[in-house]
Amino acid sequence: MEIRWHHYKKLPSTNQKAMEAIATGTLHEGDVVWTDKQWRGKGTGENRWESEAGKNLTFSLVLEPHFISPSEQFLLTQIVSLALQQVIEKQLNGQPCSIKWPNDLYVSNKKIAGVLIQNMIKGEILQTSVLGIGINVNQKIFVSDAPNPVSIIHFTNKETKLFPLLKDVIHNITILYEMIKRPSQKNIIQEKYLKHLFQKGLWGSYSDAKGSFEGKIRAVDNFGRLQIEDRKGSIRLYGFKEIKFEL
Ligand code: BTN
Repeated sequence: MEIRWHHYKKLPSTNQKAMEAIATGTLHEGDVVWTDKQWRGKGTGENRWESEAGKNLTFSLVLEPHFISPSEQFLLTQIVSLALQQVIEKQLNGQPCSIKWPNDLYVSNKKIAGVLIQNMIKGEILQTSVLGIGINVNQKIFVSDAPNPVSIIHFTNKETKLFPLLKDVIHNITILYEMIKRPSQKNIIQEKYLKHLFQKGLWGSYSDAKGSFEGKIRAVDNFGRLQIEDRKGSIRLYGFKEIKFEL
């Protein structure tokens, strides 16, 4: 895939910019929108994404994954999470980085990166996908009520250059993206994703609509639903936003 870089000094949100440009037909697969200063970054749900100007990576990659059916869209979540896991872990001097379902990147109990994917579906086709990514790189102090933020600099004690890191992430995503074009490779992606899943196989505290409980994450199905085994041995199945990790 050919990558085209679109750099802005400041933007409200790279996802918003990408979505607007897709609507007018100006951005296509391989376009990356990134900015030094994102002042109204979108998080998941109603959340905002905090990022100090010039300190972090905030960017969006546009894909046109026509070969994926909408029911398989979780594959995109998996490849972005894995690419980030690989790139971030390489920076951390041996500290493991894991994927907190569905697509947060965690180092021990702290969030180091977040992903917001916005898909446009037409009939049975995934027309366009905007992969919005925020990585905390050189920001030392967080002022919002973001839960447990942490940055790469907290592990390295020195500044990391932003553009080489961005190129690394995009490179890894494109490799994994090529893999999901081949049906035989999809299982490998699934396995790698599970291997790096935060709290997999360990007792943890969770809460759902009925209240708090203890459970062990067992797997994630092809639709991206999380399977947690509770103390009674029953498997509970959750879609996005139906379960909270109590950390
Ligand atoms: C989350 O809540 O964890 C998702 C955060 C996603 C933030 C990124 S930063 C670049 C892109 N543009 C946005 O407005 N949000 C995403």
